[in-house]
Amino acid sequence: MFDGGAALRHQMRGMNIKAGRATIPSQFEQRLAQVASAAEHTLDIVLGREPQAGEIARPARLIEAMRHAVLDGGKRIRPMLVVETAALFGISEPHAMHAGVAFELLHCYSLVHDDLPAMDNDDTRRGKPTVHNAFDEATAILAGDALQTLAYEILAREATDRDPLVRASLVQCLARASGIGGMAGGQMLDLEAEGRYTEDKRPPGLMLADVEKLQRMKTGALLGACCQAGAILGRARELEAGAIARYGRALGFAFQLADDLLDAEGDAAEVGKAVGKDAAKNKATLVSALGPIAARRRLGDLVDEAKRALYPFGERAEWLRACADFIAARKS
Ligand code: IPE
Ligand code: IPE
Ligand code: MG
Ligand code: MG
Ligand code: MG
Repeated sequence: MFDGGAALRHQMRGMNIKAGRATIPSQFEQRLAQVASAAEHTLDIVLGREPQAGEIARPARLIEAMRHAVLDGGKRIRPMLVVETAALFGISEPHAMHAGVAFELLHCYSLVHDDLPAMDNDDTRRGKPTVHNAFDEATAILAGDALQTLAYEILAREATDRDPLVRASLVQCLARASGIGGMAGGQMLDLEAEGRYTEDKRPPGLMLADVEKLQRMKTGALLGACCQAGAILGRARELEAGAIARYGRALGFAFQLADDLLDAEGDAAEVGKAVGKDAAKNKATLVSALGPIAARRRLGDLVDEAKRALYPFGERAEWLRACADFIAARKS
C-alpha cells in the first residue's frame, strides 16, 4: 500500500529539510513536497506490479528495476513545472499530473542510462545504488527503455487530456526535447567533450558557446519542455507560450549550471550522488569553462532572466518564480 507520508518525508529529506533541526521549510519547499507526494502516488500506480490494460505480463525483475529507478527519491521538479505552468491557465493539478509523471518517467530513464558503466559509470543515485548496481546492466538498459515507452503511453491516454490534438502536441514536445536534438543529442556531445572519441583521448577544448549548447540540450531541453507541456495543456496563446518558453529556457540552463556547481562544491551525502566526478572525467561544464565564481554569477543572471520572463503572469506565477530561486540555491 502506498504510504504518502513516507514519500513526503523522503522528499523533504531530499530537499535538506532536516527533521529535528530548526530548518523551517520555505513555502516553496512545502509546495514542492505536496506536488512530489501527489506525483509519487501516481507513479506508484502506473508502475504497478500487475499487468495493465493491453499488456501481456510485467516481468518481476523489470518492474522492480523500474520502481527502483523512479520511486522513493528525486525532487520531482519536472512534475512541479508541468503542474505549475498548467495552473497559470486554470488547469487543475490532477489533470496536469498525468503529463507531469510522463515527463518524470522520461527523466528517470535518462538518469538510469546516464549512470551506466558505458556512460558516466556512477554507483549512487538519489542516495541509493544505481539501477545497474542494484540489478545488472542489461536490466538497467531495459528498465530505461520501458520507462521511456511508458512515458509516451501515458501521454497518449485519454486521461492526460480529452483533446487528441493536445495529446499529440505533448508527445511531440517530449519527443523533441528528449531525442537527437535534445537530451540524447546533448548526452552524445557530453561524451564527445570528454575526449573519449578523439585519437589521443584529449578533450577537444570546446568554446563557451559549445558548452552552453551541450548543456541546453542534455538537460535544459527537457525542463523547458515541462513548462511548454503546461502551456499546451492550458491552450496558451502565442504571447503566453513565448513567455513560458523564455522562462523554461533560462531555467533549464540554470538547472544544469547548479548541478555542475553541486558536483564541484557539494557534499555527496546531501546531494545523493557522487561529487567531483565532472572534473575527474574531464566533463565540459560551465564551472570548468568559467570557474566557480563566474559560473555562480551566470547562475544568478539566468534566475533573474527566468523570473523576468514571467512578467505577463503577474502574481499568478509566484511558484514558478520561487522555483527558479530554489533551483539555484538547492543543495541536492
Ligand atoms: C539530475 O536531475 C540530472 C540532471 C539533469 C542534471 P535532478 O537534480 O532533477 O535529479 P532528481 O530527479 O532530483 O534525482
Ligand atoms: C545528466 O547530466 C543529464 C541527463 C541525465 C540527461 P549529469 O551527468 O551531469 O547528471 P548527474 O550529475 O549524473 O545527475
Ligand atoms: Mg552525464
Ligand atoms: Mg551523470
Ligand atoms: Mg552532474
